[in-house]
Amino acid sequence: MSKVEEILKQMTIEEKISLLVGAGSSTTVPGAAGETRSISRLGIPAIVLADGPAGVRIAPLRFGVQGEFYATHFPNAIMLASTWNLEVVEKVGKAIGEEAKEYGVDILLAPALNIHRTVLGGRNFEYFSEDPLLSGVIVAAYVRGVQSVGVGATLKHFVGNDQEAGRMYVNIVVDERALREIYLRAFEIAIELSKPWAIMAAYNKLNSYYCTQNLWLLTKVLREDWGFEGLVMTDWFAGDNPIEQVKAGVDLIMPGDDGIVKKLIDAYKRGELRIEDIEERDRKVLSIILKSLKYQGYRWSNKPDLDEHARIAYEAALEGIVLLKNDGALPIKSSSRVALFGRGSYYTVRGGLGSGYVHARYTVSIAEGLRERGFKVDEDVEKVYRRYMLPLYELGDCIEMFRRLRDTAVKSDNKGFLTWLLFDISEMLIEYYRTLHLPEDPFDDGFLEEIAKRNDVAIVTISRISGEGWDRKPVEGDFYLRDDEYRLLLRVSETFHKHGKKVIVVLNIPSPIDIVSWRDLVDAILVIWLPGQEGGRALADILLGKVSPSGKLPLTWPRDLEQDAATRMFPYEPRQELVYREGIYVGYRYYDTFGVEPAYEFGYGLSYTKFEFSDMYVEKDVDKIKIKLKIRNVGGYPGKEVVQVYIKPPRGSIDKPYQELKGFKKTKTLKPGEEDEVVIDIPIKYLASYVKGRWVVEKGLYEVRIGASSRDIKVSKSIEIEREYCFNTKWIQIECS
Ligand code: BGC
Repeated sequence: MSKVEEILKQMTIEEKISLLVGAGSSTTVPGAAGETRSISRLGIPAIVLADGPAGVRIAPLRFGVQGEFYATHFPNAIMLASTWNLEVVEKVGKAIGEEAKEYGVDILLAPALNIHRTVLGGRNFEYFSEDPLLSGVIVAAYVRGVQSVGVGATLKHFVGNDQEAGRMYVNIVVDERALREIYLRAFEIAIELSKPWAIMAAYNKLNSYYCTQNLWLLTKVLREDWGFEGLVMTDWFAGDNPIEQVKAGVDLIMPGDDGIVKKLIDAYKRGELRIEDIEERDRKVLSIILKSLKYQGYRWSNKPDLDEHARIAYEAALEGIVLLKNDGALPIKSSSRVALFGRGSYYTVRGGLGSGYVHARYTVSIAEGLRERGFKVDEDVEKVYRRYMLPLYELGDCIEMFRRLRDTAVKSDNKGFLTWLLFDISEMLIEYYRTLHLPEDPFDDGFLEEIAKRNDVAIVTISRISGEGWDRKPVEGDFYLRDDEYRLLLRVSETFHKHGKKVIVVLNIPSPIDIVSWRDLVDAILVIWLPGQEGGRALADILLGKVSPSGKLPLTWPRDLEQDAATRMFPYEPRQELVYREGIYVGYRYYDTFGVEPAYEFGYGLSYTKFEFSDMYVEKDVDKIKIKLKIRNVGGYPGKEVVQVYIKPPRGSIDKPYQELKGFKKTKTLKPGEEDEVVIDIPIKYLASYVKGRWVVEKGLYEVRIGASSRDIKVSKSIEIEREYCFNTKWIQIECS
């Protein structure tokens, strides 16, 4: 008999039920989001679950305890996806896993792979891409990394939490084709490629049922179609009926309380819950507990290698920076004198707010990163920002106060709550306050003139922050520039250009902002997203040309919010129901199919060097398309290119997007003149569309289009799929007729 069955046999019904309900926020690891209930007489420990996607989220200081518990803040998911680099993302995953392990965390509540359905989603920074393949494949690398050290990863939020408006109750209405091809597909690919230990059901309803109470979603799709064997948990306080949750397929209700245990016991006694279902859920929870580091008696050190992890955070940020525009302004010499404008240059936003927030040891701002790399940053410009932002510095001193508090043992019955209040809420308020409206353009003409004369280049940083619980807004100061921001760009550009000097804009943002109204004013634009704690250093090395930019957009950058169907229907106010009327036409699938010109297309990103794509070879094998081609660096700088494979289907009877990403590969660093051969295999099933309950690949001539972005196609060839292929929802081939 297996260990799980052995334990199950000894458990009372009360124990069996209590194991399905979390024990509230963690007492083992302060600041961790939750833990399970222990059963000490059977040797079952409580295992600890902690956020989140950009680093382990635990309290950095503890009452009455010496020592610090800071975690590394890695680049946020949207930036990890911008790397298109599986090795780098796997390293990040492993480093986060190691920090979890050394801080006593058994299950990481990440990664989050909802879809960038619009640019306005409040948690877009925590999510990877508008494309399910890119999301799924990158997430799989992240999960492999986390799990390689014995910590479990959790895919979240399953499914449709693509915006924050009314997230606790909104009913997302979406047709099954769009679900299967876009929203579920990202999860399906990640599960297939990386076997995550757990999945978290989302807050919202899906087609009338809360995701946490949705039998179709949690049992039919997840367990039966995909064969998922891991644990299903709820999002924190999700849904409205724990009995329905257990029936639908939830194994662990989080964060959980005694009231829920009682409700479930009563339901069992009334005959509403079957013992078979309860035991089935227990098996999942027990399997995870038995696999956990806690069960195996791992003694965590509370001393992860933060320095090594900072290096990995730097490396990932370096690869995720996207160069949008470069009219000969970049790279610049390290001896350059630089005038740094914009408060984000001094208060660089490293991450977003909410459960994705990480308590990091430090943030290297842009100013600090540049100085460290030898740039001469103009002190008079800095002084102006520092002067009118003085209160912010004082707020920063609160952290010092926390430190002092830590050294005094605080007597409280509810340390978990106090910890949350002190560290989470106050730190986040400070972060938020830093991005509030402070005038960006307090300079008079004479001052600007002087600055333009004595510096070689101007860098203007534009910052935004977003977070869990609210979406981005179509207003000045959020999607649009405020007047003072625009004026700053205009005046700095005019003055510097008059003196023959270049202006570079750095976008320090959670997801795209309006760009067309001002991009012509400036010479170069770099996107550093919310880059984590090492952003300033990574940016400095890109500016210097130590490394050429190699990030590519994981989502379409719109010209305006009216451009695509999903954004036009964006729920600016919470509502009961949201219909995904655009169906499968999300992101570039919409722009390409309906001939709409974005500001920058999906997959876009410039380099300091140039690449030549040649010798394309494509062949159909039994169940895959095999592609080979050569990439040569024909420019003057070393660099990496992302080879992107899009497939354009024949005109058949199924309504399909113009083209879809079906494979990609980032090259190694190629020196000028160096060549690399890239091999990419695309399973035939990746070409399928979901039609009337099954997956169908139509026969005909498919165009394999390979490029440096979705619209910069360099080489292409057609390939004949000689017969129709059909698969059931388990991906077993079936007769088509
Ligand atoms: C978030 C989750 C998170 C959980 C625990 C919820 O509010 O939606 O992403 O993992 O809290 O902190």
